[in-house]
Amino acid sequence: MAEIVIVPDRAAAGALVADEIAALIARRPDAVLGLATGSTPLPVYEALRSRLAGADVSRVRGFALDEYVGIDPGHPESYRSVITREVVRPLGLDPARVRTPDGTLDGIEHHGEDYEEAIAHAGGVDLQLLGIGTTGHIGFNEPGSSFASRTRVKTLTQQTREDNARFFDSVDDVPTHCITQGLGTILDARHLVLLAFGEGKAAAVAGAVEGPVTSSLPGSAIQLHPHVTVVVDESAASRLAHADYYRYAYARKPAWQGL
Ligand code: F6R
Repeated sequence: MAEIVIVPDRAAAGALVADEIAALIARRPDAVLGLATGSTPLPVYEALRSRLAGADVSRVRGFALDEYVGIDPGHPESYRSVITREVVRPLGLDPARVRTPDGTLDGIEHHGEDYEEAIAHAGGVDLQLLGIGTTGHIGFNEPGSSFASRTRVKTLTQQTREDNARFFDSVDDVPTHCITQGLGTILDARHLVLLAFGEGKAAAVAGAVEGPVTSSLPGSAIQLHPHVTVVVDESAASRLAHADYYRYAYARKPAWQGL
């Protein structure tokens, strides 16, 4: 079972997960981080700034989960730009060691395989940050995605385009396609850390954590992974049937276990 940690707010979630990432980098200076974009991971990146100040991060590597297809990589909302702005620059990472899937149209049919090779060459992802969409997607694996899927081009649901319209001038500007790590790719990471905040994520969180394992709710794939930490605020936890047990278990967790 995933470990469910219910925290008071985003800042507490950011602090908890940033502590874990900083400890990982201290243990393993060439750690491979799986990076999510969107609003959810921002408190983690924010909290990491102080924790990594003065640390040697020159060997840390990173792989983003996904990218829009056909977007200019220099567009402020391309995930390449977002990762550069929110992660690479503020944390002082080496840009050459942090990759996003290549969403440029030229050769797009090969970009998924190239990305898989790059992740494998790096030795796999140590800690994968995940958000979850209102459709239940992780990465951009929309409902129906195979649990065995690898990095590939997918069509975004209209719901996801509407959810992400806030980053663009209008929903029509949100690309229709993306290139995303597959569920199989995500499940290969050694530790999955899924964060979710707000009432709007409560149904997706409950389905992912307590619902049946089904490609209709791709986030439920996390139930197949041996090391998952789900960090949610009270609103995102509001539909969890066993929330009291998760609180009880976390309060009694042996200190040596870590996240
Ligand atoms: C982002 C990603 C998506 C988001 C999800 C939630 O790289 O892969 O799964 O995590 O769409 O988005 P936010 O965090 O903006 O609510």
